[in-house]
Amino acid sequence: MFPAEAREFLESSARDGLTSESGAVWWVFEVDGIVQGVVFAQEREATDRVWDVTMLAVAPDSHGTGLGSRLLAHLEAALRARGQRLLVIETSSLPAYERTRRFYARCGYREVARVPDYFEDGDDMVLFWKRLDGGP
Ligand SMILES: CC(C)(COP(=O)(O)OP(=O)(O)OC[C@H]1O[C@@H](n2cnc3c(N)ncnc32)[C@H](O)[C@@H]1OP(=O)(O)O)[C@@H](O)C(=O)NCCC(=O)NCCS
Repeated sequence: MFPAEAREFLESSARDGLTSESGAVWWVFEVDGIVQGVVFAQEREATDRVWDVTMLAVAPDSHGTGLGSRLLAHLEAALRARGQRLLVIETSSLPAYERTRRFYARCGYREVARVPDYFEDGDDMVLFWKRLDGGP
């Protein structure tokens, strides 16, 4: 679903996330050595304990099996245990992402903002938000 231009970004994020001291977190779910799902999150700079889900993806043949929800719940629990405050997720307004947006709503995320024409003309950024600390 990601555009071809995202490939370089995803590869360099993976390289940096796995090899640097950036503090980014990755979880990969494998079956018999084959990756079925991945979640990658980073702390947002210049914020008070705000994390961003930069990538969440499940192999197409495992869609709808609960793996995406479990990866996200695992990430939330780990960040909560570290005393983190907010989790935010940017996604697209395009019809191809409708199930993705429904998925986040079902996982307890609130749509709090839309930025028009953000990714490109006609493709808004939809921002989902969840508190991790039970705050106001
Ligand atoms: C979005 C995604 C991570 C969800 O993971 P998943 O394991 O398929 O989701 P779960 O089984 O935990 O939850 C199922 C719910 O997710 C939603 N969903 C989103 N995409 C889906 C898909 N392709 N197939 C089935 N359900 C999907 C549905 O709302 C579904 O609930 P419903 O059965 O009540 O309609 C996964 O479908 C995916 O990798 N999609 C493509 C990449 C993507 O959109 N990533 C996020 C970019 S911001």
